[in-house]
Amino acid sequence: MARIFVLNGPNLNMLGKREPSIYGGLDLAGIERLVRDKATSLGAEIEFRQTNHEGDLVDWIHEADEADALGIVLNPGAYTHTSIALHDAIRAISLPVIEVHLSNVFAREAFRHHSWVSPVAKGVICGFGPKAYALALEALASDLAK
Ligand code: DQA
Repeated sequence: MARIFVLNGPNLNMLGKREPSIYGGLDLAGIERLVRDKATSLGAEIEFRQTNHEGDLVDWIHEADEADALGIVLNPGAYTHTSIALHDAIRAISLPVIEVHLSNVFAREAFRHHSWVSPVAKGVICGFGPKAYALALEALASDLAK
């Protein structure tokens, strides 16, 4: 069965109580449920993780490649805007990575307009709240179907 890694970066464990006017009221466990439901309908197996540490994300990106996963759905949180290490990790692997954000980062502060991940991602989905994750899974699955 196709395996997809869904990786979440810093502060996403705080969803539900973190700035709900921006990120909505659903917590990360709720997003995980949504992801698992979508994956079942697509016939995919999910590795769902969150960390507040940049190096964990680097390690997991490598792990997904070693596991020969179908791809990675990555919400890098604030590391999106700072992390050359994530940029390099994605360049080092051959899997498609879909960058997702709950909020529309381009409608927010200027420091969120630059992403180190976007230039090496297969695509970017932002501004649709938790639905971004389901859309990213669909994108990966349809890519496989090609
Ligand atoms: C985020 C957007 C980032 O700018 C921010 O640092 C986050 C969450 C999002 O999902 O909208 O932590 O990735």
